[in-house]
Amino acid sequence: MSPAAGSTDGKTLYAQWCAGCHGATGKGDGPNAARLPVPPAKHGDGKAMSARSDDALFDTIEAGGAIMNKSHRMPAFGGSLTSLQIRALVQYIRTLCNCQPPAWSRDGLQP
Ligand code: HEC
Repeated sequence: MSPAAGSTDGKTLYAQWCAGCHGATGKGDGPNAARLPVPPAKHGDGKAMSARSDDALFDTIEAGGAIMNKSHRMPAFGGSLTSLQIRALVQYIRTLCNCQPPAWSRDGLQP
């Protein structure tokens, strides 16, 4: 399947590519989580995720955990997913955490 052929719905993509480790609702409790040396991030954790800019989430998903100084067991999806799909995943993570990125990272906001 070519990347462009996939869904651009964040929820669908998350279930397909992420839930195995991160859990269906981002609690870090997917079926593969127990086998990982570092627990998968809890995307449902509003306190943790509100400290991350959308760019940081995007880069981690595209290029993998290692470039963000995180576990290399977080895969790089840039070869499998398009930028549009990754952006949909970032927005879906925002619904899981029910949180906003830090104010400094948001366009158009005064500090
Ligand atoms: C093979 C298991 C695995 C899969 C599949 C996986 N992840 Fe991860 N992910 C991890 C692990 C482990 C970490 C924690 C890295 C750390 O804290 O060092 C992580 C961390 C992250 C982070 C960083 C969170 C933070 O605290 O900044 C994001 C964002 C993320 N994953 C998104 C995704 C998305 C979106 C998908 C699906 C496209 C996905 N991951 C699929 C294992 C996985």
